Amino acid sequence: MNLEQALATKKLVVFLGTGGVGKTTIAAASALHASRTRKTLVLTVDPARRLADSLGVKLGSEIVNVRPNLDALMLDTKAALDALVKRYAHDARTLHRILNSRFYEQLSDAFAGSEEFVAMGALHDLIADGQYDLVVVDTPPSAHAVEFLRVNRRLIRVFESGVVKYLFKPTRFLRLGGGAMMQLLTRWTSNEYVEEMAEFMVTFDQMFRDMETRVRAMDEVLNDPARTSLHVVATAEEESVPRATRLYRDITQTLGLRVDSAIVNRYHPRLPGMEVTEMLDNPAFRAGSVKRIGAAARVDPDAAERFLDDAIKAARFYDGLARDQARYADKLREEMPVPVRVVPAMQGSVHDLAGLERVRAALFPQ
Ligand SMILES: Nc1ncnc2c1ncn2[C@@H]1O[C@H](COP(=O)(O)OP(=O)(O)O)[C@@H](O)[C@H]1O
Ligand SMILES: [Mg+2]
Repeated sequence: MNLEQALATKKLVVFLGTGGVGKTTIAAASALHASRTRKTLVLTVDPARRLADSLGVKLGSEIVNVRPNLDALMLDTKAALDALVKRYAHDARTLHRILNSRFYEQLSDAFAGSEEFVAMGALHDLIADGQYDLVVVDTPPSAHAVEFLRVNRRLIRVFESGVVKYLFKPTRFLRLGGGAMMQLLTRWTSNEYVEEMAEFMVTFDQMFRDMETRVRAMDEVLNDPARTSLHVVATAEEESVPRATRLYRDITQTLGLRVDSAIVNRYHPRLPGMEVTEMLDNPAFRAGSVKRIGAAARVDPDAAERFLDDAIKAARFYDGLARDQARYADKLREEMPVPVRVVPAMQGSVHDLAGLERVRAALFPQ
């Protein structure tokens, strides 16, 4: 299963990789490609706003149309958690109180590390909704990108351990014998505090139950190779190789999931002109080279010689880099025995649709 086949047949295509390797760029370029034949949504949880920049649209927590057949959503996880609360609060007043309550503050802090948690909920809704043929996911730029895949199982364990049930036991009590309980509690604490807590708990009890359903459904989708396809993005650089290797092993060995392909991004290929560069520096030809450069550029011999030295130095520097990249790319191929695609480094950064189109064309050569 290569990337192209995955984009053509799966419901969910997920890009994983450590920060800065080009996940967001590759996800957007892949979504651009897929949108030629399928209704596609690209979802990013990346607060760096790079996707928004490169797609040339301003993204918020709303779905934005980029081109025919291509929508984009940049998920603001705090806003998504708020939206979740909104769904379960009975009225505007309750919602306002909940969003401003000290419990909510604590809860959003507790979940702050798990953007993945909220992202999963949103992802579930997008897929369940069925309005897209394909959802392409650009995972959070965390050092542990694999958290994104693990969060469901972690949450399912929490749900199963009964912690949540225990936590929300008082809910039923408050709801049933509310009045009496409230009176009792009010003696010790302020009435306001108790009311706030009661409201909060009723709301969150419902939310957690619903969350459990969605988390289980999402875990099924992620574990179903017929619907989901995972791809690792890496760069051919020294630090990138062990990180990608670890990520690959975490996904395949620790989680037991399949990685369908890898993308080596921002690659610097070796240039075929290097042999000529070495000839130019050959003492036997050097004087002639300087003379011809001087004549061609209409500069004096000193300037021509400086140019030649600089050009040779730059070419050797680049070639050294390219040799290293070739070595690291081989290493990546060894460590990740899956189909590998190489995307060359584009000049400058990729910051608009035209740039994404170039990445798309490199990723899917005709
Ligand atoms: N093939 C490429 N050529 C040139 N620049 C690239 C390429 N891929 C990504 N970039 C640039 O590298 C930077 C990081 O890419 P990004 O996709 O945001 O990485 P990540 O999402 O993994 O953090 C961005 O500035 C992006 O424009
Ligand atoms: Mg990113």
